Amino acid sequence: MKKLALVISALCLSVSTVAAADDPVAVRKAIMDANAASAGLAGAMMKGELEYNPAIAKAALLTLNASAKSFGDYFPEGSDNGRTTASPKIWQDEAAFQQALDKYMADTSAAVVAAGKDGPADLDAFKAAVGPVLGNCRSCHENFRVQN
Ligand code: HEC
Repeated sequence: MKKLALVISALCLSVSTVAAADDPVAVRKAIMDANAASAGLAGAMMKGELEYNPAIAKAALLTLNASAKSFGDYFPEGSDNGRTTASPKIWQDEAAFQQALDKYMADTSAAVVAAGKDGPADLDAFKAAVGPVLGNCRSCHENFRVQN
């Protein structure tokens, strides 16, 4: 239970950081950190480290969906230098990046719909909903993120 409370406060913290900052690089990183917290939560439940809880599962899916909808707004021209690991390809091939964002939005929206009002009924239903979402992390990072 303590672990769960920590994860939830991590989610809330990331979201309030996003609301407070007006630096696009900081905002998009904070959105990704919220993404990582939700993915971590999903992973912990899938591995059985955290007892499955439909409400928490739904909160994680909603956070992923919110991040997918807002992330693309924080890539103004000229924000591809310095503290970022965003690849120059984001600005060189905007259509391709938009396509990755659209897929992420579609997959996270479908997961929220699948979750229903009370969250996925059991762990298998959650795995089925979140699985396609998690595939986006790696494919987008491979294409649009430079490792440093
Ligand atoms: C549509 C593309 C896209 C998707 C999908 C995506 N990411 Fe990212 N992610 C990025 C980009 C671009 C950056 C680099 C941001 C920067 O440094 O400015 C990044 C950075 C990150 C970071 C580092 C943040 C920091 O503080 O520097 C983490 C952690 C992360 N992503 C986790 C995830 C997880 C987990 C998922 C899936 C649930 C995911 N990402 C899905 C594009 C994406």
